[in-house]
Amino acid sequence: MGLTIVEKLIVTALVDGEMIKGQRIGIRADQTLSHDLNGVMAYLAFEAMGLEKVKTELSVHYTDHNMTQADYKNSDDHRYQQDIAAKFGIIASRPGSGICHSLHLEHFAVPGKTLIGCDSHTVAAGGVGMLSIGSGGFDAAMSMAGEPFYLTMPKIVNVYLTGKLQPFVSAKNIILEVLRRISVKGGVGKILEYSGPGVATLDVAERSTITNMGAETGATTSVFPSDEITKQWMYAYGREEQWVPLAADEDAVYDEVITIDLSLLEPLIALPHQPDKVVPVSEVAGTSVDQVMFGSCTNTSLRDVMSMAHILGGKPIHHNVDAGLYPSSRTVVRESIARGAYDKILASGVRIFEPICGGCNGSGFAPQSNGVSLRTTPRNFLGRCGTASADTCLVSPEVAAASALTGVITDPRELNLSPFVYEMPEKFIDDTDMFMYPSSEPENIGIRRGPNIKPIPEMSAMDDITSGEVVLKAGDNITTDHICPAGALYLPIRSNIPEISNHAFKVLDESFAERARQAGNGFIVAGSNYAQGSSREQAVIVPRYLGIKAVITKGFARLHLANMVNWGLLPLIFVNESDYDNINQGDQLTLDTANLQAGQQYILKNETKKLEIPVTTPLCQADIDAVKVGGRINWVKNKNKKSK
Ligand code: F3S
Repeated sequence: MGLTIVEKLIVTALVDGEMIKGQRIGIRADQTLSHDLNGVMAYLAFEAMGLEKVKTELSVHYTDHNMTQADYKNSDDHRYQQDIAAKFGIIASRPGSGICHSLHLEHFAVPGKTLIGCDSHTVAAGGVGMLSIGSGGFDAAMSMAGEPFYLTMPKIVNVYLTGKLQPFVSAKNIILEVLRRISVKGGVGKILEYSGPGVATLDVAERSTITNMGAETGATTSVFPSDEITKQWMYAYGREEQWVPLAADEDAVYDEVITIDLSLLEPLIALPHQPDKVVPVSEVAGTSVDQVMFGSCTNTSLRDVMSMAHILGGKPIHHNVDAGLYPSSRTVVRESIARGAYDKILASGVRIFEPICGGCNGSGFAPQSNGVSLRTTPRNFLGRCGTASADTCLVSPEVAAASALTGVITDPRELNLSPFVYEMPEKFIDDTDMFMYPSSEPENIGIRRGPNIKPIPEMSAMDDITSGEVVLKAGDNITTDHICPAGALYLPIRSNIPEISNHAFKVLDESFAERARQAGNGFIVAGSNYAQGSSREQAVIVPRYLGIKAVITKGFARLHLANMVNWGLLPLIFVNESDYDNINQGDQLTLDTANLQAGQQYILKNETKKLEIPVTTPLCQADIDAVKVGGRINWVKNKNKKSK
């Protein structure tokens, strides 16, 4: 039997376990990626391991998220990370050079290799045929230390593309269509592998838009073949010698197949506040728009900027609309200027920001209260844009540009413009001097730490009996943004756990932090797909720091589950989902955790309601053992102590 692309990638990287669906496997990370928001935690963990140098083929650190620099905090974080990079053999980008995933795709992503990055959209590199997976900072640090990255061998879903996109319908609509069909949890435990004649109609930037936002389906990652188009992309960035072809065998077998005829797609929009609330733009056309945000790692390639400039054409945007562009990389900025696109965009009255994450994660360009914001970003979770009362919708650059002109949600085809024609430059401007390379004298590099960089919190081992109060009962699809908020106020204090913990669950419940502290030992109860969204491990560390010992849900997002293991927070799943209704906030629960075993059922006692509720844990035995000692950090420390 032939192999899929995913199987070929995993076979090459496999260092532990067997490639059997549902089994735990360990893979080697050829490359790692970090950024300034999650990098401090990753590097504190890496330092604690006591190594002299990273053990990967390539590790890159990007300064793109935490860019407000309103006081010393961000600047101190940047300086600490640059020192770490110089000392431990990591390439670093200068602040404002571009968004990590876009820069990595341009300069470092290699077909056939593996990439572990402490950001959920690391999966963007699947656009060149790389096995790229998002992780928490600790897992990225372990990968830098040469340790295997563990995951459950996923099912492989073939997304078979036929046909060709129609004018003004772009790659964003393909991934919105995937989300419309399979939802924000439809990819959990799966990898999406793209194939079919439609693949050849998409360039690497378009493919990467699709793999990037595949994260929103809950999939472990997504991957495209590596073909002549990939080769052309790598040639354009001066890296053609790194190209290798990659395709599935003709007789490869998939667990599921989804077929999409690209020629039938129309402009789509994800309505507030989930990326899978997708409807045709025509259904909501005419709705007033207050803000349009172009940008993010999903949608500001050169193609995207040129396409929006084509639609805007220098015409003034509607007087009710505030519009802004966060381009994806310095190269895109320079190429756009060289081709006259920036002039058209500026002439239209669109504000142009530096090439960073910016408005995507709420650190700038927040919409007005109760405003409607159209965004080309991958996520529209409640409050992520920085304004809790705003309605954010996800659209393609074409819908965003058309709507900016008219002031209402608009199908770009209604404007009767000439079709957009794009030709990728044969060679992009060489912008590689934006990178800072590791020191040749690492022993002479001192690490400078600002006062915002606090030590990693110590996590205690788990007691044999866990008793406590349900501090919070939440619904389905809770995001990491709910747990640990995004936005300009909070991003600079992400590395300061005592400080950021005061803001946990603030969007849902102002008094959570205080109640959790008072409870001492506590539980969180939630519905399905708990903690979807970003890779931020603070969404585990903060509840754990506040005294939460276990989270009981109908299901967890993959990345969050891995972070729970690393930081010693016990995940439990209802055996009968209806038992969710048998627990209320404030109930007292007790669980005997002395003999937790993988795959077994346990009785959770609801002391308040005098009920016995069967639960299980989705973890394998090795992960249970790590949680019991207070997380993988403690587990690694214990292992190192024993080997001394
Ligand atoms: Fe940055 Fe938003 Fe992407 S925060 S990494 S641009 S999802």
